Amino acid sequence: MRLCMVGSGYVGLVSGACFAETGNDVVCADIDAAKVARLQAGEVPIFEPGLGPILERNRAAGRLRFSADVAGAVAGAQVVFVAVGTPPRRDGGADLSAVDKVAETVAANLTEEVVLVLKSTVPVGTNARVRRIVEGAAHRVHVVSNPEFLKEGAAVEDFMRPDRVIVGCDEDDALARQVMARLYHPVSLAKDRIVWMNPASAELTKYVANTMLAMRISFMNEVAVLCERVGADINSVRRGVGSDARIGPKFLYAGPGYGGSCFPKDVQALADIAHEHGVGAELANTTHRVNERHKGLLARKVKARFDGDLRGKRIAVWGLAFKPRTDDIRESPALTLLDVLLSEGAEVVAHDPEAMSHVRPLYDERLRLVDDAYAAADGADALVLVTEWREYQNPDFERLRASLRQPVLIDGRNIWAAYGLGAQGFDYQGVGVQPT
Ligand SMILES: NC(=O)c1ccc[n+]([C@@H]2O[C@H](COP(=O)([O-])OP(=O)(O)OC[C@H]3O[C@@H](n4cnc5c(N)ncnc54)[C@H](O)[C@@H]3O)[C@@H](O)[C@H]2O)c1
Repeated sequence: MRLCMVGSGYVGLVSGACFAETGNDVVCADIDAAKVARLQAGEVPIFEPGLGPILERNRAAGRLRFSADVAGAVAGAQVVFVAVGTPPRRDGGADLSAVDKVAETVAANLTEEVVLVLKSTVPVGTNARVRRIVEGAAHRVHVVSNPEFLKEGAAVEDFMRPDRVIVGCDEDDALARQVMARLYHPVSLAKDRIVWMNPASAELTKYVANTMLAMRISFMNEVAVLCERVGADINSVRRGVGSDARIGPKFLYAGPGYGGSCFPKDVQALADIAHEHGVGAELANTTHRVNERHKGLLARKVKARFDGDLRGKRIAVWGLAFKPRTDDIRESPALTLLDVLLSEGAEVVAHDPEAMSHVRPLYDERLRLVDDAYAAADGADALVLVTEWREYQNPDFERLRASLRQPVLIDGRNIWAAYGLGAQGFDYQGVGVQPT
C-alpha cells in the first residue's frame, strides 16, 4: 500500500519505518526541513534502539522516502497517517493545531479516496472534528482513530509485537476496516491484535491507559515517602503488592516522578476532557498534582543533606533523559532537579549517554556536561542518580568514593539499594528505602 506518515518524530518515524519493513511504500513527511534533510542524508535524528538499520534497509530498498513537502507527499497516498505532536496548551488541553493543519492539507491535495488515520494522541471528539474539516474534499476521506502505544526505548519492538492495536472506525466502513486489518496483519500473525471500537472509545482508551499507568507510579511514589517515615522498604512493599495477580508487578517502581512527552500531558488532557463534559476527574487531577510535587523530591533530599545551603556545593547528576534508552528530555524530572540546584547556587556537573545535546541549549555555563560519568563525580559533594541507564547500574564504587569530595549518593531509582553502600562508607539514600 502507498502510505504517507505526516510527522516524523518518535512515533511517525518508527511507525513509518516499520510499515515499510512489512512491504509498504512509505513517505515520511515533516515540516521540519532540517530533520528531513538529515533523514535524506541517512542520519537518524533520534536515539531509538534498532531504528537505524530498519531506516537504512528500507531506504536502500526504495520503500521508504522522506519529504518536507507535506502537500506533495499526501497527494497520491492511499493511507495518510497523522503522527504530529499534540502538545499541552496552557490550560492543560491538547493543542490540535498541527492535526487540523494536516487534515486541511489532505482535504486540499488528495488525488483519490483516502483513509486518514489519526495516530497522534488526541482528545475525544477529534475524529469527528477532522471529519468536518475534510467534508468538502474532492474524494471521500475515511477517518480512523488508531492511537499509538509504543514506548520510547523499545519502540520498534513494541510496534512489531504490540500488546494490542486499537482501531476506532465506523462499523459499516468496509474500506477503512479492510485497510487497517491488512496494514496490521503482519504484526497479528500469532494472534489477532486488533481491538475494534468506535472512534470516541479509541480516543479515550489512549488517555485512560496512560493515566492508569501514571496513577500507579504516583501512588507508589507517595507510598515511598511514607515508607521512609515509618521504617518500611518500598521494594519489599512493591514485591508484596505486585505479586497479587489482580495488581501485577509493572509500573510499581518508586522514583523521581514520571516525565516524558506522554504521561504528563495525557493525564492533564484527560482531566480537561472530563471538565469540558461536566464530569469530575479527581484521580487524574490528583495524579498530576502528586507528580508535580514529587518531581521536587530529589532536590529536597539534596538540600536537606546540606542543611538547606547549596552555595558552593558541587553536585554530580547521572542521567538526564526522562528514562533510559531514549534521548528524550521532555518533562524529565532531571530538569526539575537541575533547575533547583542551579537556582540555589550549586555547581552542577552532569552526564547522560544520549541526551546531553538536548540539555546543553537549555542552560548557561553553570551547568557542565561531561562525556565521562566518573568525571562528573570528580570533586563533587554528592552524586544524584536520576535515570537508570544500564551503564550506571553497577559502577566502580571504590573509584567513586575516591573521586567524590563527600561520599554522598542519592539514588533516585533505587538501583543501588541492595548493595549495602552504607557499610562501604557511603552516605546512601534511595527513594522509600531505609538508609543503609
Ligand atoms: N513519544 C511517544 O512515546 C509517544 C507514544 C505514543 C503516542 N504518542 C503521541 O504521538 C504524537 C507524536 O508524538 P512524538 O513523540 O512522535 O512527537 P515528536 O515531537 O517527536 O514528533 C512530531 C513531529 O511532527 C512534526 N510536525 C508538527 N506539525 C506538523 C505539520 N503540520 N505537518 C507535518 N509535520 C508536523 C514535527 O516537526 C515533529 O517532527 C503525539 O500526539 C504523542 O502524544 C507519542
